[in-house]
Amino acid sequence: MIKQNDIIELEIEKLTYEGAALGRYFCDDCPSGFVVFVKEAAPKDRLKVKITKLNKTYAKGEIVEIIEPSKHRIKPFCPLFRACGGCCYQYLEYDYLLEQKNNMLKEAFLKSDFQPEFLEPIKSPELMGYRHKIQYRVSQTKNSKRLLIGYYKEKSHDITNIKYCPIQPAQADEMAQFVRDNWSFGAYREKNHKGLLKSFAARFSNDLKSALLTFVLNVSSADYSKIEPDLTTFFETMGKNFPFIKSISVNFNPDKTNKILSDDFKNVWGEDFIYETLEDENCKRVYKISPASFFQVNPKCAVEIFNEVKKNIGENSSILDAYGGVGAIGIWLCDKAGKIYLVEESKSAIDDAKVNFKLNNCKNYEVFLGDAKEQFKKFLKDRKKFGALIIDPPRKGLSAEALEALSKLSDKIIYVSCNPQTLVRDVKYLQTLGFRAKTTRAFDMFPYSYHIESVTVIERE
Ligand SMILES: C[S@@+](CC[C@H](N)C(=O)[O-])C[C@H]1O[C@@H](n2cnc3c(N)ncnc32)[C@H](O)[C@@H]1O
Repeated sequence: MIKQNDIIELEIEKLTYEGAALGRYFCDDCPSGFVVFVKEAAPKDRLKVKITKLNKTYAKGEIVEIIEPSKHRIKPFCPLFRACGGCCYQYLEYDYLLEQKNNMLKEAFLKSDFQPEFLEPIKSPELMGYRHKIQYRVSQTKNSKRLLIGYYKEKSHDITNIKYCPIQPAQADEMAQFVRDNWSFGAYREKNHKGLLKSFAARFSNDLKSALLTFVLNVSSADYSKIEPDLTTFFETMGKNFPFIKSISVNFNPDKTNKILSDDFKNVWGEDFIYETLEDENCKRVYKISPASFFQVNPKCAVEIFNEVKKNIGENSSILDAYGGVGAIGIWLCDKAGKIYLVEESKSAIDDAKVNFKLNNCKNYEVFLGDAKEQFKKFLKDRKKFGALIIDPPRKGLSAEALEALSKLSDKIIYVSCNPQTLVRDVKYLQTLGFRAKTTRAFDMFPYSYHIESVTVIERE
């Protein structure tokens, strides 16, 4: 049996969902192969691997030598690959990586008794600069007081100071540098929970002509008034310096928490929203987005996803858009659907959605603020039926109780998921209620990361 620090030879079989690759070590004690997870490995690599962690059923290891590389390996295009921990699969050719990600989706479905038809995966229309939502952490070095702005290194709270990120718009680098050079009010140090600036978030519109900024501060709104005049000058200077900045807000987050944003926002420069336009040759929609509202990270890929949903709804049908955000999907469908019912728990998103239905001249809609599960139960009590349900939940998916309730509202469910594991768990539960997943398609919303979005059409048997 292998031991900690052993160096073994391993052939890699496949990529795994959380950003590693899997190989099996065969020996007398484990004839069916002991699973070893290796970072930065590729299927068909032959490697010398050092065992760094040993558990009962699997081990983790790191590459000591590549004996024979996969033919799909490439040189990572970002100088901060490894340091940043963002795009874990940058060392693989894009088309090959997408094929592997699609295999991960297929493999997740193996846990289910019934296999859907796997449709051709859809590439991200952009591979560079695709990420339009940025949430940088900020800190300050102890002695030189230099500002560090970037993402946490993998499995740590140390910040990689990111001056250039090819998967984000170049404007993000310019704004972050402006903050490094001009912010003189101190930044957060997690060790002593002191210092003002904790995070710096930005949302860019599809055409990059508008940006919405949020500075997350380690103060309460009551204490903010003492420092407000100095900060106002900074925000004004920054807003005027970058013509594409349309909105700057602060977010008050004085708690010791990993959550980047609290619910407490204040607009400090410009408007307190931006407009986003999504379009293709057949459809054009405008959306108002406020700082506290969710919107898709990769807008061009979002259009592909929304079209997949549109293809699968009936003409003039009544659609329940659950976990609907600012109405992004529902409003995209409104020329085909009969009526859109939108359910969303964020007050900010619901307020934006109401504006967005009007902005797009969509008249036949109703919005419901609150927890989706509770709203499903209310619809049930009212004996409501829908032509189709669209569910686009957060990564954790749905509870059994929510699935029970929604299963009685329609014979068709279109599940937009950003997590194959919870998607398949929920599909399995729906199977026990008489539904079957018919088709599923992967969409590469987050190129070079392990994340994969999908649209699954589920129907009552
Ligand atoms: C992945 S986003 C999708 C939003 C929208 N469909 C879109 O495409 O932009 C998930 C949304 O679900 C909302 N949400 C999270 N938990 C919820 C719950 N229990 N009930 C209702 N909405 C919820 C979030 O506020 C967020 O807007």
